[in-house]
Amino acid sequence: MNLQTENVNALRNYLDVAEKGEGALMMALQKTQSIFGHIPQEAQLLIAQKLDIPVATVYGVVTFYSFFKTEPLGRNDIKVCTGTACFVRNAEKVLRFIEEQIGIKCGETRKDLEYSLNSVRCIGACGLAPVIEINGAIHGNLTNDEIDKLLKELR
Ligand code: FES
Repeated sequence: MNLQTENVNALRNYLDVAEKGEGALMMALQKTQSIFGHIPQEAQLLIAQKLDIPVATVYGVVTFYSFFKTEPLGRNDIKVCTGTACFVRNAEKVLRFIEEQIGIKCGETRKDLEYSLNSVRCIGACGLAPVIEINGAIHGNLTNDEIDKLLKELR
């Protein structure tokens, strides 16, 4: 992937003045994700080099925390709650329905970067189960027709 030069420069500038060592890693990763929207492999290499820590350590932390993304998110970020309240109200069916509609599986981003689909554990709106979040907005008490309508509004 070709990273934008201005983003790479912004990360370099940050890392040039950052503390070295593993203690600075979390901050560097958060900064990287705020710059790129995810943490590309090239950025992981740069972080390892600049902070003077093994690439494997950087990669291990990136993949351990689900907050960190290694792939760019789609323009429409869809999260399906699969917490207990949503689970008992057919969250799995909601997830399968959305997968069919947008043509990707949970955890994937569509190749055209139009959609990302992920599951999450309880987003604090259990009374509205089943719940999904689209680009930060919560939608609850969903039927397939309502989901279909929401997806059509995104196109
Ligand atoms: S379990 Fe889905 S919002 Fe709480």
